[in-house]
Amino acid sequence: MNLWKPTLLGSFVLIAIYLFVSAPPPLETAIGHGISGRTVEVKRMFDTVDGINSATRTLYTKRIVGAGLKSGMKFGEDWAEPGVDKGPLPALFLRLVAAELEARPPRLGLYLGSDEPINKSNLFNVLQAETFAAVKADRAPHFATIEGIGQVGLYPDYASAAACVSCHNDHPDSPKTDWKLGDVMGATTWTFPDSEVGSDVYLAVVEALYHSIETSYQAYLAKVSGFQNPPLIGPLWPEPGLTVLPSSAVFMAEVRRLSAESVLDNLVLLEKTSQ
Ligand code: HEC
Repeated sequence: MNLWKPTLLGSFVLIAIYLFVSAPPPLETAIGHGISGRTVEVKRMFDTVDGINSATRTLYTKRIVGAGLKSGMKFGEDWAEPGVDKGPLPALFLRLVAAELEARPPRLGLYLGSDEPINKSNLFNVLQAETFAAVKADRAPHFATIEGIGQVGLYPDYASAAACVSCHNDHPDSPKTDWKLGDVMGATTWTFPDSEVGSDVYLAVVEALYHSIETSYQAYLAKVSGFQNPPLIGPLWPEPGLTVLPSSAVFMAEVRRLSAESVLDNLVLLEKTSQ
């Protein structure tokens, strides 16, 4: 048993309790954009949600899809079709999360775009393409204000595993067939109407994202329950010879653990700006 994990988690919980419970009154009374001046640039919020999303993407790609494939489970583009016993590919899981987010009030938009997409609906439009060119040039996030949308943040999506390269190069709909490891294949794109956010909005957005991830994972588990040979759902993660899936609670605890740092970093910043 790895002892440092619960301890680290414990200290995060303590900081969180400090921030939520003992924070001075403006945290409760600030409405909208933080009357007390307790606001951060939307870029900070994008950093946080991108941290949560990349932690989720890595977790889902490695421990669900990667490990699931080795245990005999299947994943594909046609996963949602009736009678198909498969789970969503990572890009499609992200799209589920994006659709869930869209249905929620904080108005945070999420989109995985590219200039060489497999799916044409993931092609950046002219305005986004300009910002994406900058992302590709220095492999760092870039931000823009786009009329009618508001604030936009593009974060590089790297070919971080051999599977990214081979699947995209071999895909019949891929316009590009010479992707290499480490290439910027696209960008996780975040949109939000306002350029500054108060702590209340920040927390609402973070919770809306966690909730969207949870409902997306639950949609996958719901599909799995109709499989001919459904894997057991409980505390364990798939591994060779073990066809199981973590329950929604277990999956989300790991998502929150892996992303706690990026959430708290910016919460601390929100605290500081008010002093
Ligand atoms: C098994 C195949 C497969 C693997 C592995 C895979 N992808 Fe994809 N990816 C797809 C498919 C199919 C789509 C289109 C999904 C859709 O309809 O939106 C896609 C979509 C994308 C997009 C949006 C643009 C587009 O091409 O439509 C990006 C960016 C992307 N993938 C990057 C990655 C990265 C980075 C990795 C590795 C971490 C990866 N993919 C792994 C199949 C794969």
